[in-house]
Amino acid sequence: MTAATAGHSADQLPRPTRLSEVKGWFFTADQLLFDWFLRHQQDRGVAGDLLELGAYMGKSAIFLGARLRPEERFTVCDLFDSPAEDASNSREMAKSYATLTRRAFEANYLSFHEELPVVVQGLSSSVSEHVAADSVRFAHIDASHLYAHVHGDILAVRELLADAGVVVMDDYRAEHCPGVAAATWQAVTDHGLRPICVTGTKFYGTWGDPEPYRTGLLAWLAERGDVWHEVQEVNGAPLVRLSAKGAKEPAHPVSRHEAAPARAADAAKPGKPAAKPGKPAEAARPVVGRPAPRPPRGALRRVALDVLPPVVTRALVRARKRARAQGPAGR
Ligand SMILES: C[S@@+](CC[C@H](N)C(=O)[O-])C[C@H]1O[C@@H](n2cnc3c(N)ncnc32)[C@H](O)[C@@H]1O
Repeated sequence: MTAATAGHSADQLPRPTRLSEVKGWFFTADQLLFDWFLRHQQDRGVAGDLLELGAYMGKSAIFLGARLRPEERFTVCDLFDSPAEDASNSREMAKSYATLTRRAFEANYLSFHEELPVVVQGLSSSVSEHVAADSVRFAHIDASHLYAHVHGDILAVRELLADAGVVVMDDYRAEHCPGVAAATWQAVTDHGLRPICVTGTKFYGTWGDPEPYRTGLLAWLAERGDVWHEVQEVNGAPLVRLSAKGAKEPAHPVSRHEAAPARAADAAKPGKPAAKPGKPAEAARPVVGRPAPRPPRGALRRVALDVLPPVVTRALVRARKRARAQGPAGR
């Protein structure tokens, strides 16, 4: 079965209207940290590309892609619907990612961005054939959660990271994947990885100097005030631990699919506010990175008319006719 035929036909492909609708595992604390690390690197002039091993439906990739600078490359590596090569990895894929297809990932990603990242469909162990050594400033390791694979991914990423590059390890402490914990802390004790901070789900470290990151992070946390944190001594160095329950999420990229039906429905109910007071619609959030271009207004109206229930469509058509009859001031 090819990637094009597996799992999703064209009309079943996802059309997420906001990032929260994309299936995946990417929580507020990590969204805040991804955003902070990438901005902090930009402020310090840390150059390099972005890399993700394990993209699934694109949740974290879409977020990362919105923070890509024009001169940078973003590479995503995933098996998608290709077979794994060993029995344990095949079982892991069948159990956790059975409905995944590359087309679904791409449809999700293109809902938020004009262009796809560089997609490597294959084992994460092949990533060094596609990404240059010392070229990456931020790498997210979230592919297989089995020890042998994660250990290999960490060693590969060590070679790909630029001097001040940061690596993020997913699920470094979860009960169902002890191999990730083993590989992560082994990288600290045996392979020179220096921890910066941890959340409940991810570990952040560098093979460069962790101090500017720690200092900058603690200053930012103190200034925000809404992210709980503490510093513990681990293996002779400070480690920031944080949790973001109740903290405000950073800006999400805006979907090309969003708001068309909602706006049309709003138009059909004159006087209805676009969003509840104090709860801005996601469309009103700041747009980061390079969002997908929006279709022209006429096209949005046509789509809305095609998808809305007939009673709303009729009300809309009547409202448009009235507006035309009143001339430009009524539009
Ligand atoms: C936990 S998911 C990634 C989640 C994603 N980063 C997110 O935030 O939603 C793990 C992904 O790794 C992929 N994967 C599993 N084993 C792999 C391997 N050996 N090489 C490459 N990708 C693999 C799976 O296809 C799956 O999409």
